[in-house]
Amino acid sequence: MTVQNRQIEVLRYDPERDETPRFETFTVPCKEEWVVLDALTYIKDELDPSLTFRWSCHMAVCGSCGMQVDNKPTLSCKAFVRDYGEKIRVEPLANFPIERDLVISQDDFMEKLQRGRPWIIPEQKREVEDGPYVQTPMQLDDIKEHTMCINCLLCYAACPVYALERDFVGPAALTLMYRYNADSRDAGWDERREVFAGHGGVWECSFVGACSDVCPKHVEPATAIQKGKMDSAVDYFTRFLMPGGGK
Ligand code: FES
Repeated sequence: MTVQNRQIEVLRYDPERDETPRFETFTVPCKEEWVVLDALTYIKDELDPSLTFRWSCHMAVCGSCGMQVDNKPTLSCKAFVRDYGEKIRVEPLANFPIERDLVISQDDFMEKLQRGRPWIIPEQKREVEDGPYVQTPMQLDDIKEHTMCINCLLCYAACPVYALERDFVGPAALTLMYRYNADSRDAGWDERREVFAGHGGVWECSFVGACSDVCPKHVEPATAIQKGKMDSAVDYFTRFLMPGGGK
C-alpha cells in the first residue's frame, strides 16, 4: 500500500481566540486511496483534535463536507488526495461566515430555503388513506436531474452573484423551487412567486454557470434557473393579458 507525505494547509479560525483566520500546515502520511476528508480526519485523530470540520456519510450523499480544496468548492469525501499536488490547501466554503475552522454558518441558506417552500403544495390535499400523490415516469423525467440536490452549498461558494448580492436567493434554493413548481403534483406557484421571481429571485442570475460546474450531483442549477426565468416571463405576461390568470 503506497503512503506519501502531503502538506495539508488548513485555514484555522477560532472566534474566541483569533482576530483573523490563519493557515496551519500539517504533514500527513496519506494512503493511495485517501480522500481529503481522510487527511483531515488523520489530523484530528493524530495531530490536533481541535481541528473542526463537518462530515457525516463519507460517500457524497449527505452534503455536509463541502470545502474549498485548492480554491475550488469540493466535497472533501469525493476529492482523492492523489489527484492533487504535494501541498493541498483546504479552506471553508467561500461566501459564508466562518463559525470555526472549516465550518461555515448555513443560516442564510436555511432561511432562504424555508422561504421558498420547497415541498409539494397540492391543489387538493389528500388524506393518508387516499394514498400517495402519484406521477408517471415521464413526468418525473421532466424534473429528475433537479431533484438530486444534497444541499452541499458548493454552488453558493462558486456563485459570483451570491458573493456580491446577499439578497440573492441563490442556486440551490431556486433550483428546489423550480423543481417543485415544475412537479406535476404541485400547484404552489402563487405561494412561491414573490421569492422565486421577485427581488433576489431568478432574474438576479447572470448565467455564469459556475453553480453547475461545481455541482457534485449534476443537478444543473444554472439550467433550472433559466427555465424558471421562462416560466416567470410566461406567468407575468399571462397575468398582464388576463388579470387573475397566471401559471
Ligand atoms: S461526508 Fe457526506 S457528502 Fe461528504
